[in-house]
Amino acid sequence: MRAQQITELSGPASALTLGDVPEPGATHPMTNAEGVVVDVEAAGVSFPEVLQTRGEYQIKPPLPFVPGGEVAGVVRSAPEGTGVKAGDRVAAFCMLGGFAEVAVAPDYLTFALPDALDFAQGAGLILNYHTAYFSLVLRGRLEEGETVLVHGAAGGVGTASIQVAKGLGCRVLAVVSSDEKERVAREAGADEVLRSDGPWKDEAKEASSGGVDVVLDPVGGDRFTDSLRSLGEGGRLVVVGFTGGSIPEVRVNRLLLNNTEVIGAGWGGYVLAKPEVNREIGAGVLALAEQGFVAPIVGARFPLEQASEALQLIDERGALGKVVLELQAM
Ligand SMILES: NC(=O)c1ccc[n+]([C@@H]2O[C@H](COP(=O)([O-])OP(=O)(O)OC[C@H]3O[C@@H](n4cnc5c(N)ncnc54)[C@H](OP(=O)(O)O)[C@@H]3O)[C@@H](O)[C@H]2O)c1
Repeated sequence: MRAQQITELSGPASALTLGDVPEPGATHPMTNAEGVVVDVEAAGVSFPEVLQTRGEYQIKPPLPFVPGGEVAGVVRSAPEGTGVKAGDRVAAFCMLGGFAEVAVAPDYLTFALPDALDFAQGAGLILNYHTAYFSLVLRGRLEEGETVLVHGAAGGVGTASIQVAKGLGCRVLAVVSSDEKERVAREAGADEVLRSDGPWKDEAKEASSGGVDVVLDPVGGDRFTDSLRSLGEGGRLVVVGFTGGSIPEVRVNRLLLNNTEVIGAGWGGYVLAKPEVNREIGAGVLALAEQGFVAPIVGARFPLEQASEALQLIDERGALGKVVLELQAM
């Protein structure tokens, strides 16, 4: 099968090599059990793959390996009694191996793809939306009627978080860095869009009668203290990532003074060994998709041959919504 492999740890411009590799067996290495084999139509591209090209991600398989955490496609084979069968359209989280014509995923990380979503959208469904749901609902304890501020709001996790929060009946303030990203955040459903280089903290407080209930933060860096200041009493700041580069430190007296919380949300580490939590999150995301709230925004599509360009787009802060590889495109 055709696949992109990481053959050296030299960064997104040069780490990948396109070639023919053997198809994977039906066993998924994460579970050592039979998995769901998928004929891949689209593969999601995300920050972890960018980090993997530099050897900077926590999972460091020996070289060469096929990257690609998630795919959408058609089931070729599936274990009995798993809810999906040959011929079904699915979204699947395979962890590795997605930048290829065939991928294998654990059964509990494979979900029927709603009819309303195409394969490219399906390739953007699990990592971002399951992270958003896990971060907002399970970790952030988000309640209907609350106000959420989302950083990096035009990115993959950001657009997903806007849609999930809107689906849960919340008001969403989005923080972005450009006009183009403002358009994407509005398309995702943000009620108000604030600029990261403007007085967003004061604007957020004003727009939420004194402070927001939840901040969802995939960016980190030097805006962290202002994120804490933008919380209202009882507010929760959910830490999701550090695209801004630096890892912030918290002066905990701020938490005491305003009765606020900082909460970590590491989706992968928490859920990957917990099939029942995955099913709970999958059901929540599916319900929001069926109600029309969850509809991944695909900002860029590349053929498999151009996986390097896809990774560079993310690396250079240019991604809008989800970046995908389309396997049938040439
Ligand atoms: N905790 C978890 O379980 C989990 C799960 C999935 C992903 N993540 C993490 O979440 C983060 C976001 O992922 P994503 O897929 O949403 O990424 P993305 O689509 O590339 O979006 C990231 C956003 O971060 C902002 N940003 C600020 N400074 C940046 C910089 N120096 N370089 C690049 N972007 C910068 C950009 O928004 P502006 O330009 O508008 O500022 C950008 O839109 C990543 O760190 C990823 O590893 C965590």
